[in-house]
Amino acid sequence: MPQLLDGNRIRDEIKSELAPRIRAMAASKRAPGLAVVLAGHNPASEIYVRNKVKTCHDLGIYSETLTPPDSISTAELLALVQHLNARADIDGILVQLPLPPQVDTKRVLLAVAPEKDVDGFHPCNVGNLVAGLPGPRACTPAGIIELLKRYSLPIAGRRAVVVGRSDIVGKPAALLLLHQHATVTICHSKTPDLPAVCREADILVAAMGRPALLTADYIRPGATVIDVGTNRVTDRVQAEAIFRGAPEKLEAFDRKGSVLVGDVHPLDVLARAGAYTPVPGGVGPLTIAMLMVNTVEAAERHLC
Ligand code: GUN
Repeated sequence: MPQLLDGNRIRDEIKSELAPRIRAMAASKRAPGLAVVLAGHNPASEIYVRNKVKTCHDLGIYSETLTPPDSISTAELLALVQHLNARADIDGILVQLPLPPQVDTKRVLLAVAPEKDVDGFHPCNVGNLVAGLPGPRACTPAGIIELLKRYSLPIAGRRAVVVGRSDIVGKPAALLLLHQHATVTICHSKTPDLPAVCREADILVAAMGRPALLTADYIRPGATVIDVGTNRVTDRVQAEAIFRGAPEKLEAFDRKGSVLVGDVHPLDVLARAGAYTPVPGGVGPLTIAMLMVNTVEAAERHLC
């Protein structure tokens, strides 16, 4: 059996390290403050935001959720972000993505003050990442590095293959791995012979958003497999195809009507990997933990 990389355990470790920093700030000045902008009604985003706000509450971080309607315009959202930029009690601003289709997402992300950008999405902070300068890093990629380090899994000199080239995960994950001296390949839907490229990986990061796409022939025996995907499968035929060898999983599907599946095949990874992140309970909890780290660091800079 491969080593299970427990994101919940690492999240709890990170939270317990943050707690005294937050208490010290609250005692001497004020608690850190995070504003979360959740535009419209995207069910997945609503769950993510609920978990972010709950974690703030657990840690004693002040949080405020702004919920403009689906119909919000780019200009209205820009005005809202500018108001948050100007507020002295708000250290971090998170605009939950995706935004409604009529909104110019790039303009909105550009409007967030770089020093309040706890997602690391502002082009200034993307530039800081590329240049290796200090600044907030995108939370999911930062969580992946944190997980590898805390499990003492070596990165330097290893071959890392990142499947997926999103601005939120794929690109920043590749850069962070590069800064840790991995030899990095970024793959995407147009990469020829994807299985062969993935089989080169000592560290395989799956971030394409396609349920169970990476099967055994994509995984080098003994590889460390980091699965960023969280795909809700609601089609029983698809669930059956994935969980043919795991009747208990199908029973769970039948009870709930859906199952959460990563981008890596959940049974194949057990047969091939040396270490792996489960879905759920792997990378997901770390995204929130790193958001808390970015918020506390923004507050420490803001308040000092
Ligand atoms: N949507 C999916 N992941 C993220 C994230 O890390 N930050 C924000 N703001 N939106 C997201």
